Amino acid sequence: MFTSSEIVLVLLLGFLALSCFTEFESNAQLLPLEEVKILETISKKLHNTHWNISQSSCQDGGAGFYKYFTDDILSNVTCNCSFPSNTCHVTIIEMKGLNLTGVIPEELGNLTHLEAIDLTRNYINGSIPASLSRAPFRALNLLGNRLSGSIPIDGFTMLTELVLEDNQFEGHLPQNIGKLTNLKRLLLSANNFTGTIPESYGNLKNLTDFRIDGSRLSGKIPNFIGNWTKLERLDMQGTSLEGPIPSIISSLKNLTELRISDLNGSSQFPNLKDMKDIKLVTLRNCSISGTIPNYFGELRKLKTLDLSFNKLNGEIPQKIKRVDTLDYMFLTNNSLTGEVPTWILNSKYSLDLSYNNFTGSPSVSCQQLTVNLVSSYSSSENLWCLKKDLPCSSKPKHHSMFINCGGRKMEFEGNEYEEDLSTVGQSHFISTSEKWGYSSTGVYMNKDKADYIARNTFSLNVDGPDFYQTARLSPLSLKYYGLCMLKGSYKVQLHFSEIMYTDDQTFSSLGKRIFDISIQGNLVWKDFNIMEEAGGVGKVVVKELDNVIVHGSTLEIHLYWAGKGTTAIPNRGVYGPLISAISVTPNFKVDTGGLSAGAIAGIVVASFVSVVLVLVILRKAGYLGGKDEDEDGSIIAVKQLSAKSKQGNREFVNEIGMISALQHPNLVRLFGCCIEGNQLLLIYEYMENNSLARALFGKHLQRLEQNVKFGICI
Ligand SMILES: *[C@@H]1O[C@H](CO)[C@@H](O)[C@H](O)[C@H]1NC(C)=O
Ligand SMILES: *[C@@H]1O[C@H](CO)[C@@H](O)[C@H](O)[C@H]1NC(C)=O
Ligand SMILES: *[C@@H]1O[C@H](CO)[C@@H](O)[C@H](O)[C@H]1NC(C)=O
Ligand SMILES: *[C@@H]1O[C@H](CO)[C@@H](O)[C@H](O)[C@H]1NC(C)=O
Ligand SMILES: *[C@@H]1O[C@H](CO)[C@@H](O)[C@H](O)[C@H]1NC(C)=O
Ligand SMILES: *[C@@H]1O[C@H](CO)[C@@H](O)[C@H](O)[C@H]1NC(C)=O
Ligand SMILES: *[C@@H]1O[C@H](CO)[C@@H](O)[C@H](O)[C@H]1NC(C)=O
Ligand SMILES: *[C@@H]1O[C@H](CO)[C@@H](O)[C@H](O)[C@H]1NC(C)=O
Ligand SMILES: *[C@@H]1O[C@H](CO)[C@@H](O)[C@H](O)[C@H]1NC(C)=O
Ligand SMILES: *[C@@H]1O[C@H](CO)[C@@H](O)[C@H](O)[C@H]1NC(C)=O
Ligand SMILES: *[C@@H]1O[C@H](CO)[C@@H](O)[C@H](O)[C@H]1NC(C)=O
Ligand SMILES: *[C@@H]1O[C@H](CO)[C@@H](O)[C@H](O)[C@H]1NC(C)=O
Repeated sequence: MFTSSEIVLVLLLGFLALSCFTEFESNAQLLPLEEVKILETISKKLHNTHWNISQSSCQDGGAGFYKYFTDDILSNVTCNCSFPSNTCHVTIIEMKGLNLTGVIPEELGNLTHLEAIDLTRNYINGSIPASLSRAPFRALNLLGNRLSGSIPIDGFTMLTELVLEDNQFEGHLPQNIGKLTNLKRLLLSANNFTGTIPESYGNLKNLTDFRIDGSRLSGKIPNFIGNWTKLERLDMQGTSLEGPIPSIISSLKNLTELRISDLNGSSQFPNLKDMKDIKLVTLRNCSISGTIPNYFGELRKLKTLDLSFNKLNGEIPQKIKRVDTLDYMFLTNNSLTGEVPTWILNSKYSLDLSYNNFTGSPSVSCQQLTVNLVSSYSSSENLWCLKKDLPCSSKPKHHSMFINCGGRKMEFEGNEYEEDLSTVGQSHFISTSEKWGYSSTGVYMNKDKADYIARNTFSLNVDGPDFYQTARLSPLSLKYYGLCMLKGSYKVQLHFSEIMYTDDQTFSSLGKRIFDISIQGNLVWKDFNIMEEAGGVGKVVVKELDNVIVHGSTLEIHLYWAGKGTTAIPNRGVYGPLISAISVTPNFKVDTGGLSAGAIAGIVVASFVSVVLVLVILRKAGYLGGKDEDEDGSIIAVKQLSAKSKQGNREFVNEIGMISALQHPNLVRLFGCCIEGNQLLLIYEYMENNSLARALFGKHLQRLEQNVKFGICI
């Protein structure tokens, strides 16, 4: 017999069983309560507002955890619901670009089936808790946070992917990483690691992707990289490692991308012959000498070749012509010789051959260069833009320069900043007038369509003139030139403000932009960081160099990315030089000095064509300004301008403007001028020994001894 309460209980259980059963039948995939609690704790610790956590969050493909903003900003949790009784377990947590704060919760280690976590681009600090190793992790992706401290390794034996790029780790690389023999991807770029790469890493024979850009790792490039025969991508830009590039690199036959830059210690060209799948080769500023190997003609998948800033000589191998996949070839700043082949001049891809020692005379004009050939010829018959040091093709006349880099024409403090709006930058020389120009080289890593002009994307409140609202960018090398400048000493001011990061507690504030600045070929500011020097984002810093000498007629300002800083904040392809404005002013008084006699002779001769010079002995000084009648009898020079044409009038006005503005020991002084009828006359001081006059006026010189009647005098 049952008591009534027992019946009630049985009925109740029956009801529960039935309802559970129906639920299992229709939608039975549930997370264990325990796991729900852990997830709640994790969510709370990361200040995550994007999840609706319940036992049924995994249903409909984890809909309760899913939130999509963009491909880089999203939450996606993957559950495996194939466990007994349709129990679910969280296996992958992806929370990217959500600006999560706090520290990595220890409780992640309590998720017994968690294999991967991707916290790319958040604002998490602290260190990686050792307790994480309790979960069966295969992948830890922590790119773009503020993590520091030690890196726990023990227990992470299954790890195939460890991404710590763009964080604040420092000190030596953990020896123990060498035990993670399953590792395929090890991305350590843009931290502050020091010391050498531990020998134990030679055991990482499963590596396919290894990156240590922008770190302070030192020592020789280890030979054991030759053990990484599965490697597909190797990035070692902007480290403190030393060359030579070990010859064993030739055994990395599966490489598709190789980037090594800014290496001390000279290297011969490494043997890349067997890398048949290689798509990208960057061996920049590695002191590589010798010739460009012929085998490049056989690397038929090559798209980008950057061998800039080395010591390569010889000719460009004809065989490269066969590589029809090429998009970019940068051979900037080497000692390449020979004629530039016509097939190259007609090529469709971006080609930078600037700063070499070519010979011959290509039939191009400086305005219509399709290939960046600036300053690349050693012979003298070429166009000014192709010759070393960009000599002025006319007479140097500029004594200042103001550019609003990446922006429109504008005025500031009485100076007109010229517009600089060209959007090209992959391999270009731009010079609309022979006053200034720029030469830009490079293509952004992993983002070849990126812009070469920056705008104030985040609407930062920049405290300064409008020219800080825009900037010119370059992923590699950017040279601004002042052209046809007068010889002398100048003050150069470079205006910077970081406008591509944010000023808040989100991942976009975590970028570090670092580049080098050289002026007239001298490295002036190494590892320059705008934000650091300005004291934040949207703040202004003006770097000033007081005594920059222009010996020829060209002033060169070079901004160069030496592989340092972050390259993926706020997204991939944000790095390299950024400059807002340039101002260059003379340290000499334009009307008193800095001019060589030759330069003056040049200016004057050029404007003295078709002129008859008359030397007159004036007995009466009164003609020259009403002085005492008794004094004088001085000799003056009178220039008679051709009166027939309009040109005469123009010349007359120019002459007065120029000569009266100039005062120089070597220059004749203008005493005055006269206009009578259709005659235009200029009166100069006469120089006794006549040498300058001869240089200037040649056979037009005549000597007359007669009075001249003057009309209106100034
Ligand atoms: C969580 O629930 C709220 C209210 O029901 C809903 O608006 C939101 O879209 C849900 N979020 C997710 C990620 O499912
Ligand atoms: C969530 O991530 C998993 C595993 O990476 C993937 O298969 C799935 O397509 C993603 N879901 C969405 C909606 O993107
Ligand atoms: C889900 O878990 C089951 C049981 O452990 C396993 O057999 C299966 O391979 C897992 N599925 C996935 C996609 O990981
Ligand atoms: C996580 O696991 C540790 C060790 O197993 C345990 O002491 C702790 O209570 C667990 N935390 C939670 C929130 O379950
Ligand atoms: C994390 O950063 C916050 C400020 O954003 C700071 O208050 C906190 O002390 C930091 N925590 C750790 C562990 O560094
Ligand atoms: C490479 O990884 C595979 C499986 O991930 C593993 O079996 C193998 O031992 C690893 N190779 C080495 C050389 O450690
Ligand atoms: C790297 O560490 C050094 C000291 O070891 C420090 O001076 C420097 O500021 C650090 N750099 C960064 C980018 O954190
Ligand atoms: C490279 O691999 C060889 C052969 O497996 C091994 O003997 C050697 O120790 C490895 N080198 C390093 C530096 O680990
Ligand atoms: C190189 O790649 C090929 C094709 O993908 C593959 O078959 C081969 O095993 C790889 N070699 C190594 C050493 O991993
Ligand atoms: C490279 O060598 C030069 C000169 O010896 C030295 O000044 C510079 O610091 C070195 N650079 C690195 C990255 O070691
Ligand atoms: C290339 O030209 C530069 C500058 O004119 C010169 O110093 C260098 O010796 C030349 N190199 C070769 C290989 O001709
Ligand atoms: C995180 O901050 C960035 C700016 O740094 C913003 O673009 C992004 O939308 C934010 N993410 C979310 C989920 O709000």
